[in-house]
Amino acid sequence: MVIATGAKQQVKIGPTQLLINNEWVEGVSGKRFETINPATGEVICDVAEAEASDIDRAVEAARKAFTTGDWTQMSATRRGELLYKLADLIEQNKEELARLETLDNGKPLNESLNVDLPLVISIYRYYAGWADKIQGKTIPINGPYFCYTRHEPVGVVGQIIPWNFPLVLQACKMAPALATGNTLILKPAEQTPLSALRIGELILEAGFPPGVVNILPGYGPTTGGAIARHMNIDKVTFTGSVEVGRLILEAAAHSNLKRVTYHLSGKSPNIIFADADIEQAVEGAHLALFFNQGQVCTAGSRVFVEEKCYDEFVEKSVERAKRRTVGDPFDPKTEQGPQIDKIQFDKVMRYIELGVREGAKLLCGGNQKGDRGYFIEPTVFADVQNHMKIAQEEIFGPVMSILKFRDINEVIEQANSTPYGLAAGVWTKDIIKAHTIANNVRAGTVWMNCYGVLNAAAPAGGFQQSGMGRELGEYGLQQYTEVKTVTMKL
Ligand code: NAI
Ligand code: MG
Repeated sequence: MVIATGAKQQVKIGPTQLLINNEWVEGVSGKRFETINPATGEVICDVAEAEASDIDRAVEAARKAFTTGDWTQMSATRRGELLYKLADLIEQNKEELARLETLDNGKPLNESLNVDLPLVISIYRYYAGWADKIQGKTIPINGPYFCYTRHEPVGVVGQIIPWNFPLVLQACKMAPALATGNTLILKPAEQTPLSALRIGELILEAGFPPGVVNILPGYGPTTGGAIARHMNIDKVTFTGSVEVGRLILEAAAHSNLKRVTYHLSGKSPNIIFADADIEQAVEGAHLALFFNQGQVCTAGSRVFVEEKCYDEFVEKSVERAKRRTVGDPFDPKTEQGPQIDKIQFDKVMRYIELGVREGAKLLCGGNQKGDRGYFIEPTVFADVQNHMKIAQEEIFGPVMSILKFRDINEVIEQANSTPYGLAAGVWTKDIIKAHTIANNVRAGTVWMNCYGVLNAAAPAGGFQQSGMGRELGEYGLQQYTEVKTVTMKL
C-alpha cells in the first residue's frame, strides 16, 4: 500500500489496479494513468487503465456470475446481509475513505467525513433492507388463469459515474443493482478513481462472490465507450454531462438496445419571496450554490429574488460569499476546496468572463485564489437576465447568478425556461405560494425553505434533459429490475 502526502496529511492510497472477478489485475495494455490532487496540481499516483479488452474480461466474469454459481443461488436475505456487511466495513473505515476522497477530489474533509460518508453508509443499508422485499403482484385477469409478475434483475449492468461525489454516486448505483441481484461493471471517473477502488477491497472483504462487482477505471471515450457499446451488457446507468448522456444513448441504439437510465446536468431555480426569512434564505441559497465548490448537479444556480427584497438579499449574499473560507481541504475551517481539475477550472473562469461581457454585475470574486491548485474565489453576479448564457448553461462552479422577479407567474415561466429540470427551491412563509411553485415548476425535486436535502429513501432524478429514471428510494429499484408476467391455466 502506497502512502502519499496530501496537504501535510498522510493518506492511505489503497489499490490501484482493476478489480475483475475478485482479482486485482493490470490492464491488458499495461497502461496506467495519473490521478491528480486538485489542491496542489501534483500527481498522487497512477492507476491501471482499462481498455475494451479489459471490459470484455469483466463482462465475461459478470455474465458468468449472473448465470451460474453462488450469486444465482444466493437467497435475497443473504444478498442483503452482504450489503449490510459492506456498510459496516465502510463505517469502520470511514476516516480513511473520507481522507482518500478529499485527497483525490479536493472537497473539504469536513464534508467528506460528515456529509458524504454518512450518506454512503445509509444508502448501502437502505438497499440492504430492500433485498428481500422485492415483490411482484398477483393479477386478476379474465378466465381460468393464475397471473403473477416477478421482478427479476436486468442482468449485467454497466455503471459510469462522475467525479463530484465519487463514493456517494458509487453507492447510488451499486447498492440498488446488488440488492436486486444484478452483476456489474463500474467505471469511476478518471479524475477520482481511488475511493471506488478502496470500496472494491471492502467488497472482497465482505464476501461478494467473484464477478459480481468489477471496478475498472479509465477514460470516457475508451473505457466508458466500451461499456456503452458492449453487446453483452444489458443496461447502462450513467451520471454526468448531457453530451455524454447522448453518446451513451446513441451507443445503446447502435449496439444491443441495452436499457439506459441517466442523471445529467441542471440549471436549477431557487426562488426567494420577500416574505421568506431572509437570513435563512441567504444562507440556504449560499449553500445551495457553493456547496461542493458548486460542482453539484442540483446546484441552485439561478437565484430568483422578488423585487421587494432584492437589494437586501443581494447585499447579504455578497457579504456571505466574501466570508466563505477557501483553502486547504484538510483544514477543518475550510468551506471550499479547489475545482476538480484544470479543465473545469478553465470552464468556470470562461463563464465568469462571459458573465461580465453579457452585462451582469460582478459583485465579488471572479479570480483564481492562490497560485497553485484550482481554487476560485466565491463569485456573485447580480442583475442577471434569464436569457444570458450564465443563466442558461451549467457552470458547475462557485458562481452565483441572482435574477430579479416581480410576480409568481413571471418567475414560474422563467424558472421553466431551460431544457433542464433537475431541482428547484422556494423560500416563503406562504404555503399557497410554496405549493404553487412546487406544482408548476418542471423539476424532479422541489425543496421548500431548505435546499439539497438528500436521503437514501427519497427518489431523485430529472425532468426533460436532466435525466431519465430515478435514483434512491423505492423508485430507484425500478432501474434494476425487469418485470416478467407469468400466466398459468387453472
Ligand atoms: P462527463 O460526462 O464527460 O464524465 C462523466 C463520466 O462519463 C466519467 O466517468 C467519464 O469518463 C465518462 N465518459 C466521458 N465520455 C464518455 C463516453 N464517450 N462514453 C462513455 N463514458 C464517457 O463529464 P465531465 O467532462 O467530467 O464534466 C463536464 C460537465 O458535465 C461539467 O462541467 C458539468 O457541467 C457536467 N457534469 C455533471 C455531473 C452531474 O452530477 N450531473 C457530474 C459531472 C459533470
Ligand atoms: Mg484526482
